[in-house]
Amino acid sequence: MKFRNDLTGRTALVTGGSSGIGEAIARDLAAAGAKVAINCVSHLDAAQKVAAEIGPDAVALQADVSDSKAVEAMFQQVDRRWHGLDILINNAGIDGERALAWEADESAWQKVIAVNLFGAFFCARQALRRMVPQKRGVIVNITSVHEEIAWSGYSAYCTAKAGEAMLTKTLAQEAAPHGVRVLAVAPGAVKTPINQSVWQDPAGLKDLERKIPLGRIGETQDIASAVTFLVSDSASYITARTIFVDGGMTDFPDFAHGG
Ligand code: BGC
Repeated sequence: MKFRNDLTGRTALVTGGSSGIGEAIARDLAAAGAKVAINCVSHLDAAQKVAAEIGPDAVALQADVSDSKAVEAMFQQVDRRWHGLDILINNAGIDGERALAWEADESAWQKVIAVNLFGAFFCARQALRRMVPQKRGVIVNITSVHEEIAWSGYSAYCTAKAGEAMLTKTLAQEAAPHGVRVLAVAPGAVKTPINQSVWQDPAGLKDLERKIPLGRIGETQDIASAVTFLVSDSASYITARTIFVDGGMTDFPDFAHGG
C-alpha cells in the first residue's frame, strides 16, 4: 500500500534548494517519490551535489528568481525535461542587512523585495501558466512568522513576507476553479545558514528559545514534513492559507504571564 503523502510521478521545482529549508524540502519531496528540480542563484555546485545525492530524477537549475527572463528560461528547461510541473515551492529568500527604516539603503531594500516577493510572483506566474491548463498543481510559498510579527530592522523582509501571504490568498482564489491549490508555510526560527550568527551564539540561542513556546529552535525537517503533506493528496481540501510551523512563536509567549 502506498503511504498517504505519496508523490510518485509528480514533478516539483524548489527555489533556493541548495541549502537550508529548501534543501530539506527537495530531499523530502524526492523521498516521497517526486522528481525534483533544485533551483539556486549562485551555488550551482551545491545544488548539483544535492541533486546527485537524490538520484537520477533530480536536476539542478541556476536562475535568479528576481529576474523574470531568467525565471522564464528556467521553466522552459523544466518543460523540456518533464512536460509539466505539478509542484512549485517558492522558497528562495534573503532577509538583508539589518537597518532601521530611516537608515535603510534604497537598493538594499529593493533587493529584498525583489528576491522574496517578485521572485515568488515570477515563479508562480510561470507555474500557473502550466498548472491552470492541466487543471492540476500546488504552489507553496515559504513565508515566515514575519508575515505577521513585526521585526525591527527588517522592514523590507517583513513587508515582502506579508506581501507573499496576500499573494498566496489572491492566487489561490484565481486558481481554485482550475483545480490548483496555493498555500503558504510560515517557518519560525529554523536552524539554517540565514540565522547562523544567532543560534551559534549561546546568548542569541537562549533569547530565541525564550520566544518559542515549544522551547526549541526548529529543524529544517520540521518544515519539509509540513510541505510534503500540504502538496500531497492528503491535503487536497486545503488552499489559500498560511500554515505556521513555528513551535508556537506566533502565540506570543510573553503573554503567558502579565498582560
Ligand atoms: C528569519 C530568521 C529568524 C526567524 C524568526 C525568519 O524568517 O529568516 O532569521 O530567526 O524568522 O525570527
